[in-house]
Amino acid sequence: MTQDELFKVLVAHCKEYGFIFPSSEIYDGLAAVYDYGQMGVELKNNIKQYWWNAMTRLNENIVGIDSCIFMHPRIWEASGHVGAFNDPLIDNKDSKKRYRADVLIEDFLAKIEEKMNKEVEKGRKRFGEAFDEAQFRATNPNVLREQAKYDEVHNRYKKAEDANDLAEYRQIIVDNNIVCPISGTCNWTDVRQFNLMFSTSMGSTAEGANTIYLRPETAQGIFVNYLNVQKTGRMKIPFGIAQIGKAFRNEIVARQFIFRMREFEQMEMQFFIKPGTELEWFKKWKEQRMKWHVNIGMGAENYRFHDHEKLAHYANAATDIEFQFPFGFKELEGIHSRTNWDLGRHQQYSGRKIEYFDPEEGAAYTPYVVETSIGVDRMVLAVLSHSYKEEKLENGETRVVLSIPAPLAPVKAAVLPLVKKDGLPELAQKVMDDLKYDFNCQYEEKDSIGKRYRRQDAIGTPFCITVDHQSLEDGCVTVRERDTMSQERVKIEDLRALIDKRVNLNNLLRNL
Ligand code: GAP
Repeated sequence: MTQDELFKVLVAHCKEYGFIFPSSEIYDGLAAVYDYGQMGVELKNNIKQYWWNAMTRLNENIVGIDSCIFMHPRIWEASGHVGAFNDPLIDNKDSKKRYRADVLIEDFLAKIEEKMNKEVEKGRKRFGEAFDEAQFRATNPNVLREQAKYDEVHNRYKKAEDANDLAEYRQIIVDNNIVCPISGTCNWTDVRQFNLMFSTSMGSTAEGANTIYLRPETAQGIFVNYLNVQKTGRMKIPFGIAQIGKAFRNEIVARQFIFRMREFEQMEMQFFIKPGTELEWFKKWKEQRMKWHVNIGMGAENYRFHDHEKLAHYANAATDIEFQFPFGFKELEGIHSRTNWDLGRHQQYSGRKIEYFDPEEGAAYTPYVVETSIGVDRMVLAVLSHSYKEEKLENGETRVVLSIPAPLAPVKAAVLPLVKKDGLPELAQKVMDDLKYDFNCQYEEKDSIGKRYRRQDAIGTPFCITVDHQSLEDGCVTVRERDTMSQERVKIEDLRALIDKRVNLNNLLRNL
């Protein structure tokens, strides 16, 4: 199965097993908006809890807040979002479809890269063990021709990006005959900037209404509460404020399932520090955040840093933590050293003094900020895409299993009476009642035990507990482990400790 096909299968699996549904589905859906079902919401909550506890419990100097989605419209002028939170857009005059010009060019470049990689793979097959990839790339005429084309387009694109030259974006598209996938034509409009913020109005009458925005990031809710938290919490620099909440962006290219949505959730932490110490803290947070990811157990090789060459005007360092999604390494989290830009701008726009009096320095200053910002939904996608497996079993059958790291799994244990009679359901219900206070459990008595195991594998339940006739006599049950499918007899009173060892989130937190 290609990665593309696998991704389609994963999307279907998420719907079939209650993880993620297209929003408003009975009305044919709403593009790039998704709802979380009964399994998805549990997974999402576990991810949020892992992040929240890692931030606010493990760090005595980090506290959490929950600010509103609606904020004073001046905030978005101060933050620069009204003026500059834009994407370059282009319309195809024949299909009337709208695209991001930069994405059209990037996709074109990706296709050239794909062609080169195909040539290399052909070479590898032809030459076998003697194959030298570097030499092949340096000498093969097809690869050289494609590489020259790639370099030419890439250089033009980077120059246009640096100069914010929208006319040049269009020219690159036209010169390379990049066509609309719907109409197949190159009949393009000019490129223009399109603001990504959703707006609505607040007020009881239309005349008195104010335009307000649905926040495109949670960070500004933290900045504008800096003084409140610092004073009421008597926080001393360095300290952090963490928040989890919804954010909204009118994404034009909304695809790849929950990777890029119009309504999504962020987990952001702004760390307030003394000016001049920001690069040290940036390095520390880079390491900390990577550790948080790798600790989940999805393979260190599936993460990498991508340091930004081109920095936003207010940043003096920035990096992405990228994850290997089915469509390649893509941004999962951003870590940015934002200087004192945001607090400085809010000071300027609100007229309020936003400073910290440093007793050690005997002076006041506007703190600098290092932020860590991760999308909850991207994290859900990372976990699901990494966990989905189709395995061939010894008996020739195939099983679909979600090997979700156990502390994040939506259901921790399924309690299954072997048959629906002879007192087994009653004992199974007792086991369930005993475990349900500590773990999210499911009770299932319908269908054969094999079918029930498969259903639990498909939602990633780490343990299946089967109650059989012997259980009535010896007080033991069969515990089947999801990944190895190994089974062992366990005393009912030992179940809680056995499950807890694998699924307790605190065990993950202790390794950080
Ligand atoms: N406060 C900084 C900030 O918002 P960002 O790189 O624009 O930075 C941070 O966003 C994270 O939010 C990204 O790394 C990604 O995980 C998530 N994110 C951004 N846009 C998203 C979208 N349209 N859909 C889903 N997640 C998104």
